[in-house]
Amino acid sequence: MAYTVPKLDDYSPAALDRAIADLRSALEHEVAAVKSDADHEALRIRWRARTNGILTQINDLWLKAAPKEAKRDVGQRVNELKTWVEEKVESAKPGTASASVADKLDITLPGIRRPLGAEHPVVKTTNEIIGIFAKMGYSVETGPEIETDYYNFESMNFPPNHPARDTQDTIFIAGQESKPQRDRLLLRTHTSPVQTRAMEKHRPPIRVVAPGKVHRSDTPDASHSPIFHQVEGLAVDNNITFSDLKGTLDHAMKELFGSDVKTRFFPSFFPFTEPSADVQVTCFKCGGKGCRLCKMSGWIELLGSGMVDPKVLAFHKDNGYDPEKVSGFAFGMGVERIAMLKYGIDDIQLFFHGDVRFLEQFA
Ligand code: PHE
Repeated sequence: MAYTVPKLDDYSPAALDRAIADLRSALEHEVAAVKSDADHEALRIRWRARTNGILTQINDLWLKAAPKEAKRDVGQRVNELKTWVEEKVESAKPGTASASVADKLDITLPGIRRPLGAEHPVVKTTNEIIGIFAKMGYSVETGPEIETDYYNFESMNFPPNHPARDTQDTIFIAGQESKPQRDRLLLRTHTSPVQTRAMEKHRPPIRVVAPGKVHRSDTPDASHSPIFHQVEGLAVDNNITFSDLKGTLDHAMKELFGSDVKTRFFPSFFPFTEPSADVQVTCFKCGGKGCRLCKMSGWIELLGSGMVDPKVLAFHKDNGYDPEKVSGFAFGMGVERIAMLKYGIDDIQLFFHGDVRFLEQFA
């Protein structure tokens, strides 16, 4: 007798299993009897016709009629069953190659390879630098990339119109003329404004590093980019001296480039540190003998540093930064430059092109 979809009054898993097994075996028998295209068309209509096909009946008699508690389970089973019926009916067409999974599957085809992602070398180097300072008790502080003149310059002791501002090739946001100068927005030229933000937030003692993106109006070439990254450092406490600065940075450079490197501190100028020093490391390519990388000097300049200028501390006197009582040091290093030296990269632009052939080397 031809199969008809029964009404269900028992929705227990066992009863559902039985009903589904009956339906499957009915279809298996009917598929086996298909001999011609006409047979197949009749089979297709009987099972798949939208009005009153067996699949539609299942929907009405089993799923729609199911009590609330059973709906989820019935829904899942009916869905699976539908897919199975559809495939079975389609592959029953005479002349269709036997559709068993084993026949369709070519195990000699190469698999789908999902390449592993990797940290961008700038992120990787930033994290490495942060890790070195974290081990010395530094925590991480961040600030916005769009800054005010106050944070980027004024609180860093660049007086208005001071020529030191020119060294920073600032990109200003347009249309700010109606605001007082200190509130005007710009793209931060260094991570030093995070020093100010950190001192506003935390009373001394403080030890923080501040990683982030900075902008300068530079024409891109192999060693310049209008966007780059820095890691800033700030330590303020009782009795912090220049030897603490030297020891800390000497240790950090050895961690970064290997215990063989030596450091030297060269007099420099920054408005927010006094005294200021450029930190140089022995050229790790030639070991200090002189080569193309170090322009025959044996030394490579890596970062700016210095003792926090008392005027900078005095901005935060009310928060415990009395220059008579506490002192500190600060430093700022360029992440791309460090990555270039560490990995032998000769063009800063490579960091920003997103070329997978370059990036995958850091996987
Ligand atoms: N902000 C300086 C720069 O971008 C680097 C620096 C940071 C120097 C902290 C001294 C202390 O050039």
